[in-house]
Amino acid sequence: GVTRHYKFNIEMQNVTRLCQSKSIVTVNGQFPGPTITAREGDRVVVKVVNHVQYNVSIHWHGIRQLRSGWADGPAYITQCPIQTGQSYVYNFTVTAQRGTLFWHAHISWLRVTLYGPIIVLPKKGVPYPFPQPYKEIPIIFGEWWKADTETVINQALQTGGAPNISDAFTINGLTGPFYNNCSAKDELFFSIANHTMTVVDADAVYVKPFKTNIVLITPGQTTNVLLKTKKHRPNTAFLMEARPYATGPASFDNSTTAGILEYHLSSNNATNNNTKIALLKPSLPKFNDTVFATKFSKKLRSLASSKFPALVPQKVDRRFFFTVGLGLNPCSSPNKTCQGPNNTMLTASINNVSFVMPNTALLQAHYSNQSKGVYTADFPANPPFKFNYTGNPPSNPAAAAGTRVAVLPFNASVEVVLQDTSIVGAESHPLHLHGYNFFVLGQGFENFDPNKDPAKFNLVDPVERNTVGVPSGGWVAIRFLADNPGVWFMHCHLEVHTSWGLKMAWVVMDGIRRNQKLPPPPKDLPKC
Ligand code: C2O
Ligand code: CU
Repeated sequence: GVTRHYKFNIEMQNVTRLCQSKSIVTVNGQFPGPTITAREGDRVVVKVVNHVQYNVSIHWHGIRQLRSGWADGPAYITQCPIQTGQSYVYNFTVTAQRGTLFWHAHISWLRVTLYGPIIVLPKKGVPYPFPQPYKEIPIIFGEWWKADTETVINQALQTGGAPNISDAFTINGLTGPFYNNCSAKDELFFSIANHTMTVVDADAVYVKPFKTNIVLITPGQTTNVLLKTKKHRPNTAFLMEARPYATGPASFDNSTTAGILEYHLSSNNATNNNTKIALLKPSLPKFNDTVFATKFSKKLRSLASSKFPALVPQKVDRRFFFTVGLGLNPCSSPNKTCQGPNNTMLTASINNVSFVMPNTALLQAHYSNQSKGVYTADFPANPPFKFNYTGNPPSNPAAAAGTRVAVLPFNASVEVVLQDTSIVGAESHPLHLHGYNFFVLGQGFENFDPNKDPAKFNLVDPVERNTVGVPSGGWVAIRFLADNPGVWFMHCHLEVHTSWGLKMAWVVMDGIRRNQKLPPPPKDLPKC
């Protein structure tokens, strides 16, 4: 492979959305930020220079970072943030991945405006396992707040209530041509009028191709689709629309964002100015169409071909059962009033641990054997209490705050069952793992049954990805091989749930051989 150099200047830029201007944090003044393009096997070197008043760090979401954990980016997990006036060079190789990923800021809520696509092309001369696309067009969904996003989250964390819902969904940073209101968050249905999509890739791993009119995408997930016109329709523009799939109790606005797809016509049949252009609308499922959502997830299967095998771990060395969900803690705001139900504070946890970010980077503490006072290696493998997670839950035991990590020996085969607790209400949580892809062996509703459900696991061609939606009021089972030494964050990709504590970290030990160890940190690694 070759080396691809990029320079990211973090700077403020004024942008106008929803008829209002505000100053946002950007890369090189662009929003969304620049696209990183590389071939599988290439080295990517990005020099990030921080010119803004905020601390910054950048995460390359979905990039495996095989033995390059220092370049992963989550603040206080693998590095201290890049402070104002400082810089840091992210240096990593793209290994065994092809498709689309994305990069985003990984500190506080800066990723609301700091993000951009990563396109990983196959190695030179290696064909796609599907027809060669004519063109690659990235489409990125986001959310927009009229208010400053740092203010939105700080207000929520101080009062214990839910943050204000966003004012718009965005497509490639734009709020859409007919945007009339606002929306919340969560998974999105996406469709383009008069077009079929063939899903060929999920989270930069090829899947068995399947055709669909509608794609469901969860925060933190990426997918590649081949787009084809169904029927020739002259003088027509096609709407692409996205709107949430939501089942939770949280308030949200079921509105739609849109973009327009138009074809450039050759000059002899080009429309003249008098031709009326019709606008064709797609149709999307109802906002709570769980039947569609479940069917769509089940269609995703690894290609599992001889060229692209699915290396599913067949045995398990370490088994974990994680409850994920929201909870209510006693009010601890200084003025004693909190905006959670019955004057409580909303919190979120895994196995009742509400993860607290340390003041220094976990990876540095681990690498230099100085975990004392930074973290404890006792993340619980099971929840500390047992109850019916989806029925009528008992009163919620307050989540315990802590910086606790789970330690894994090198090359351990790890199985994690993630169970939505539904304590405050059933809600889907997009769980994202850094440093690995995992296989999604199975999912279901209500309580996971350790005696019955594993018999139904797909160990042949499960989809391989880095982010999975834990079904609302249900569970999902994943497996990965811990072959990448370092400290790896795992968290809900809904920003506010992460802020509330729905996160944890795995410490994966070095192997014995030289190529099984994490190399020393780069010289310019930021200091806290
Ligand atoms: Cu896309 Cu830890 O994040
Ligand atoms: Cu969540």
